[in-house]
This record gives sequence, C-alpha cells and structure tokens, in this order.
Amino acid sequence: MGVFPENFLWGGAVAANQCEGAYLEDGKGLSVQDVMPYGVRGDRTEKPTEDNMKLIGIDFYHRYQEDIRLFAEMGFRVFRTSIAWSRIFPKGDEEEPNEAGLAFYDRLFDECLKYGMEPLVTISHYETPLYLAEHYNGWTNRKLIGFYERYVRVLFDRYKGKVKYWLTFNEINSILHAPFMSGGIGTPKEKLSRQDLYQAAHHELVASALAVKIGHEVMPEAKIGCMILSMPTYPLTPSPDDVIQVMEDEHKNYFFGDVHARGRYPGYMKRYFRENGIEIAMEPEDKEILKNTVDFVSFSYYMSCCATADPERAQKGEGNLLGGVPNPTLKASEWGWQIDPKGLRYVLNMFWDRWQKPLFIVENGLGAVDVLTENEEGKLTVEDDYRIQYLHDHLVQVGEALLDGVEVMGYTSWGCIDVVSASTAELKKRYGYIYVDRNDDGTGTLNRYKKKSFYWYKDVIASNGESL
Ligand code: BG6
Repeated sequence: MGVFPENFLWGGAVAANQCEGAYLEDGKGLSVQDVMPYGVRGDRTEKPTEDNMKLIGIDFYHRYQEDIRLFAEMGFRVFRTSIAWSRIFPKGDEEEPNEAGLAFYDRLFDECLKYGMEPLVTISHYETPLYLAEHYNGWTNRKLIGFYERYVRVLFDRYKGKVKYWLTFNEINSILHAPFMSGGIGTPKEKLSRQDLYQAAHHELVASALAVKIGHEVMPEAKIGCMILSMPTYPLTPSPDDVIQVMEDEHKNYFFGDVHARGRYPGYMKRYFRENGIEIAMEPEDKEILKNTVDFVSFSYYMSCCATADPERAQKGEGNLLGGVPNPTLKASEWGWQIDPKGLRYVLNMFWDRWQKPLFIVENGLGAVDVLTENEEGKLTVEDDYRIQYLHDHLVQVGEALLDGVEVMGYTSWGCIDVVSASTAELKKRYGYIYVDRNDDGTGTLNRYKKKSFYWYKDVIASNGESL
C-alpha cells in the first residue's frame, strides 16, 4: 500500500511497569502495579509478592540498550514508553524529584535518539505511586492535580530537548472500569459510586489539560496528546433501541475525547450527570484550564464489541477492560478478544469526523501463546504467522482510512517486545516481535530472540507500508 505519508511514525510501544522490573532500584517507590500480582484483574495484595511478574518484568531497566538496538534494526522511527512516576517521585507528594530516576530516562531517551528514534512518552500509564493510592485515595482527591503538575513540570524541564511527543494519561477512560489500576483509587470498586468515579475522572481531565498548557509553555515545539481506549460498538440487532444503546455506551467512553479535543463537557454528559444525581465539584479555574485542547488524539485498538438494550441478551464476553457483548460474526483471540481489523478503519473515521485532530494509533496487537522453535539455520525463533496476519490486516485498514482522508500520524504496535500483560500479569500472553525467555513461574534466561514477525515488520517499515 503506497498510501502512508513519508513522515509516518512507525514503531512500537511498551509501558514502564510492564517491562522495566527493578521495582526498588535507584530509589524507586512502589507503584500500584507492584501489588497487582499474577492472574489478578484490578485487585491487589498488601505488599509486593514473588508471583508478581512485574517486579522483574523483562529486566528492560538493565537491558534497554540491547532492546533499543533491536528496535533500531527493525527501523523504528518512534518508541513509545512511559515514565514510572514512582521513579521520579517515589511517594508522589515530595517536593524534590529523585535524581537517579531522572538520570535513567536521560540514558534511555539518549539511546533512542542515537538511532534517530523519537521517544513518545506516556506520563502516567497505570502506575500511580502506591503511596498516593493509600494516603490520598488516588485521583478521587483533588490534591493529585497538584502532585501531577509538579511531576510534569519536572519532566518537561528535564527532557524538553529530547522528547517531542507526550501522552498525558494512558487509556484515560478506563478509570471508570479499573479504578485502582487506572486511577490509583484505593477504595474497592464495588464501594465506589458513580459520583466518586466521575469526580476522579474530572480531576484527571483537569490535570491533563494543565499538562497541555504547561507543556506548550515549556516546549513550544512539543505535541501533546490524550490517549483513549477505543472500542467500536455495534448494535447487536438493527433495532433502534440497540442503536441508542450503542450511542449511550459510546458517549460514556468517548466523552473523555470530547473534553480533550473540544475543551468542555458535552451536553449529553451534563444530562447524564443531572439525571443520575452526579454533581462534579469544580473550582472556578477548571473551565478555563479545560480549554487547553490536545494537539492530537491517540488511542489503543484491540477489538470491537456489540451492545443491546435487551437485558436478556446483554451478557458481556471476554475482552479488554471495557468488555462488551460478543459479536456473532467475529472470531476471537486465545484470550477471547474479538478480532476486527475493519473496526480500526471505522474508529479512525469516527474519531476524525468527531474531532478533526491528527490521530495516532499507539497500541494494537495480538496477545498469543508463542512457541520457541529452531529454524532451518538452527537459530531459535517463533513462527508467528498468526501475529503477522493480525497486524497485516489491521495496517491494511489504516491504509484504507488514509485513503478516506483521515490524518494519521503513526502506528506503534503494542508490546513490540514481549512484556508482562496488564490485565492478568501473565508472560505467556505475548505481543512482541522479540521473544523474551521468561515464563510465568519465574524461570527463563531473559534472553531475547527475533520472531518471524520481526523481519516482516522490518520490511513494512523499510517500504513505508508498500509491502503490505
Ligand atoms: C492496554 C494497556 O489496555 O492493553 C496496556 O494500555 C496493555 O498496558 C494492553 O498491556 C494489552 O492488554 P493485556 O492485558 O493483554 O496486557
């Protein structure tokens, strides 16, 4: 497909807490992820436990040079990672940052830049300092805006010459579904009211807009975006009731994007708040701050789902944090995530029509069980044709969206190297072009091996998408 623009940002994505490990090294404090062990979905333990794969991750903290070299070999023009907030502010409410933490990201970004790879940095990717969860109840507390502001000022001042692309919160809309992981909210989900959740969301929205404002002041060249978990929702039947159900579900999901792109709460949300007794406490300055709209909208895309107004049929299936009614026309991954490449073209068009902001696909990929085998030359590899198929089919739909006239800045596939899964903390759910020898029982050498998809993606990038 010869439709990808010359400056298209091809690359891959990870998050600090899923790859770095070194969970207490160089002054790092605990984050919420350090107490979310294997197999746990949104739950927590009191203290870090040995079965928590994230404590060691894939040891990226010590092996980043080797990994960045491999990304460079594939031709990455961009590498998305996050900064672990608790490396910079171990508890989150300190006055002064931790120099050793800052120095690590200097080294990491320098390594990327050495190969001409732009860092794309998520400021907060499901890794709020645990102290803020336990002593402030995370984002339910307005004080978090101040702590986040201090944190972003430190990042922008420090990395202004190195990082041009920033994302404020990973999948900001997931705070409604996974309050501890996404919003560092200590109160168990079942005890939280809608009032609590939307108030916490409001604090994040204000903090995000503040980051855009400060970022533009400190780095006039920077591009600062929001990040949304996208999940196109189709009506289960052609009934108008199902169509309205879809509209309402999508409103709750995409109002986060509306606020980021338009700078104010949409009317349908005000109605929802009014009719559900939700009163968002706002400070007089909030409305002004929210007017700092993002430069681009980024999003993750893994699957689509259906919705219906019929309670008898509204049974949710497997899937990502949002979940939804399964689509009878689609097949699913080994983890039950329904595969829908055309949904990506659909969502790109929908977001473009809605916001008219450049779009960046910052997560997409297939979580699968991989088997390491010997190839004809006797080298260990993974014949991951299923992954190539998935990524190929999705990228073809990105090409279709470009033909539709949608402005797409780039594509960073998720888990470009195998990392620990976010929802279940498993290592056997692999997304990477690079296999990491580490297993869920903690065994493994941590050695890296190139999968077949490594060479495939290298060709895609080298041909700027023409090989698709
Ligand atoms: C997104 C997250 O929800 O999905 C990532 O931003 C996560 O952190 C990815 O890893 C895939 O989910 P999982 O649960 O398969 O790791």
